[in-house]
Amino acid sequence: MRLLVTGGAGFIGANFVQSTVREHPEDEITVLDALTYAGSRTALAPVEDAVELVEGDVADAALVDKLVSACDAVVHFAAETHVDNALSDPSPFLHSNVMGTFTLLEAVRKHGVRLHHISTDEVYGDLDLDGSERFTETTPYNPSSPYSASKAGADMLVRAWVRSYGVRATISNCSNNFGPYQHVEKFIPRQVTNILTGRRPKLYGTGANVRDWIHVDDHNSAVRRILDQGGMGRTYLIGASNERSNITVLQAILRLMGRDPDDFDHVTDRAGHDLRYAIDPTVLRDELGWTPAHTDFDDALRATIDWYRDNPQWWSPLKDAVEDRYAKRGQ
Ligand code: NAD
Ligand code: DAU
Repeated sequence: MRLLVTGGAGFIGANFVQSTVREHPEDEITVLDALTYAGSRTALAPVEDAVELVEGDVADAALVDKLVSACDAVVHFAAETHVDNALSDPSPFLHSNVMGTFTLLEAVRKHGVRLHHISTDEVYGDLDLDGSERFTETTPYNPSSPYSASKAGADMLVRAWVRSYGVRATISNCSNNFGPYQHVEKFIPRQVTNILTGRRPKLYGTGANVRDWIHVDDHNSAVRRILDQGGMGRTYLIGASNERSNITVLQAILRLMGRDPDDFDHVTDRAGHDLRYAIDPTVLRDELGWTPAHTDFDDALRATIDWYRDNPQWWSPLKDAVEDRYAKRGQ
């Protein structure tokens, strides 16, 4: 398959490209990435000889048309992704997430190319903290933040292009990922690298908010399964049934790094902070036979901590600027 991977120099996209090179050497991969603050060439260094990297904007219609015309399928990861950044300045989120997806849809429509669109569970809003309800493929959209609203808008465009133009597309909405190459602005890498650089971890509010954590390789194995076997026009929810409160995750990190579990600061909470996300992955398991491989959270977290400890050259050039930005927001 000739694959175009947008956002392939970001966290999940780079892991997807690396695992595809390993597991599907028959595929030809082109990455389209704007190399924003969140993208890095070095995340693709281990596979640089096997992949073509094109630096460019997914909202650049001429470039996207050219690249799409030369591929069999597109896996669309490119997006602005950090909720706190969206709260400070929503504009790039509208550009990359909404206009970028629109641009891609027009190109796949013109060239009859298969699209898999990567989305998030945040489009469904949040759930009660103490409830047992989980998101399913039929949960109504109810986004809370500029980020999740822009992703919801993108998903709606994909659905409309499927229905109106018969575009061959699938959508997946996944829960919170963790693993190698995640930007240090995000929760788990931020806390790990705070400890590694002698800073104290920072917890928003009381830390009661719940996220449903999945290892990035499990997200990507599900994406590949959907790309190969998913039904056209379908939406699939990806999750590993691993709900944890933020304080529980933070204290697990402190314990695994040999620190006192109370050695952290409570900081200003996020505006409009979603309480709880939880995915019901039954459809993916029953229809496509997908199950996650990283089922021991402590083991996967330990391996992730080890990766950050072993790869300071990848994240340390980013760290001070990220912490300066957080400090200005009281976080
Ligand atoms: P990331 O921020 O680490 O990477 C995003 C990548 O997209 C970067 O390489 C960036 O340079 C690129 N990009 C941004 N705007 C672009 C543009 N206009 N044109 C071309 N490239 C552009 O993000 P991530 O965490 O890897 O997320 C990837 C996708 O997965 C996103 O669509 C996100 O919404 C979705 N998602 C993420 C999670 C998560 O927990 N991280 C969970 C579910 C879904
Ligand atoms: O659910 C999927 C989503 O997960 C993706 O769509 C987003 O792109 C991705 O960024 C992530 O969004 P979250 O907002 O859940 O992730 P984040 O890592 O920013 O924060 C996770 C939780 O930890 C959240 O409740 C906020 C909290 N937090 C975050 C940071 C950075 C802290 O308590 N302290 C922190 O320093």
